[in-house]
Amino acid sequence: MGASAEALAEKLIADGRLEREEYAPLIDGRTPGIGELLRREAVRLRNEVYGARVFIRGLIEISSSCRNDCLYCGLRRSNKNCERYRLSAEEIIACADEGYGLGFRTFVLQGGEDPALTDGFVCGAVAEIKRRHPDCAVTLSLGERSRESFERLRAAGADRYLLRHETADAAHYARLHPPEMSFDNRLRCLKDLREIGFAVGAGMMVGSPYQTPECLASDLAFIGDFRPEMCGIGPFIPHRDTPFAGFPAGSAELTCFLLSVIRVICPTVLLPATTALGTIHPRGRELGIEHGANVVMPNLSPIAVRKKYELYDNKICTGEESAQCLECLGDRISSAGCEIVVDRGDPVKPFCG
Ligand code: SAM
Ligand code: SF4
Ligand code: FES
Repeated sequence: MGASAEALAEKLIADGRLEREEYAPLIDGRTPGIGELLRREAVRLRNEVYGARVFIRGLIEISSSCRNDCLYCGLRRSNKNCERYRLSAEEIIACADEGYGLGFRTFVLQGGEDPALTDGFVCGAVAEIKRRHPDCAVTLSLGERSRESFERLRAAGADRYLLRHETADAAHYARLHPPEMSFDNRLRCLKDLREIGFAVGAGMMVGSPYQTPECLASDLAFIGDFRPEMCGIGPFIPHRDTPFAGFPAGSAELTCFLLSVIRVICPTVLLPATTALGTIHPRGRELGIEHGANVVMPNLSPIAVRKKYELYDNKICTGEESAQCLECLGDRISSAGCEIVVDRGDPVKPFCG
């Protein structure tokens, strides 16, 4: 018989990693006591590396058009009920300017894989944001692109790139995506991004259809090997107009447990308490922070488009002004024992030895 889940949690805390085959029994055998042990260690490590500080990233959702057909996502091209929009360069820059005034020092330009988001267009927007706000970081989250495209975006001044790996199990990947997409190309993109000099964000949904503890074990082993600078994990939430409409949402409890595990594996990782977690639980983002997260990504998109960027049902914060949301979030973060800071929140390099 293998080690107990409690022994595995202790081993994880002592060694900062487990063997791939040890993660599934840890997940399967978790108890509230084991969760609490890992949560405390995650908070201790976060505070040791970054302090009890939470970094804010201003999310600008620049296009709801997408050429892809990921089965889980409300923006997928087959969803004829999704209203498509694309912000102009001027609108993107106005969002960043407003965010700067509110204290944001990182802007995340995110969108579907919209062919109109050419290298020229994105590079122009990035360069202009960096020109107006040289003390800010720009993060891109625009899906898979060629290496040459990533190189141009980096040369224009983009600092970071978020591209969740979604699942590190190739067979599971194939069940979540159409046949023309592949885990191999995701990996190729992640490796290119790293080689080009981006700070790279990976991550996965928790509770996505057909996900097993073994899939999550592959995710944790992948995160331990690749050591992304950022790691976005949030619950899967069904969208009514997708093939996964009838699947249940992932749980806040398992998402929080995994946040703690990931913090223990990668103490220096920048770990968001996601909007999806805030959507499935009224205190979701606070719980995320209490489990070792240290980033939140409030929405800076114009209110007129927010409801159109609907990845999943009932997404929160689509009707509030950016300033309103930030104030609300500040109170929430305080209730979780941390404070929001005006800071780029760059990744700390992992400790050696
Ligand atoms: N198109 C880019 C991409 O796919 O990387 C960026 C935008 S995409 C909407 C950002 C993330 O949203 C995806 O990586 C995915 O994990 C998440 N997402 C999409 N549909 C979701 C759903 N139904 N529930 C939770 N998260 C979802
Ligand atoms: Fe497009 Fe990203 Fe949604 Fe996939 S997850 S359909 S690539 S927006
Ligand atoms: Fe957006 Fe509370 S954080 S309204």
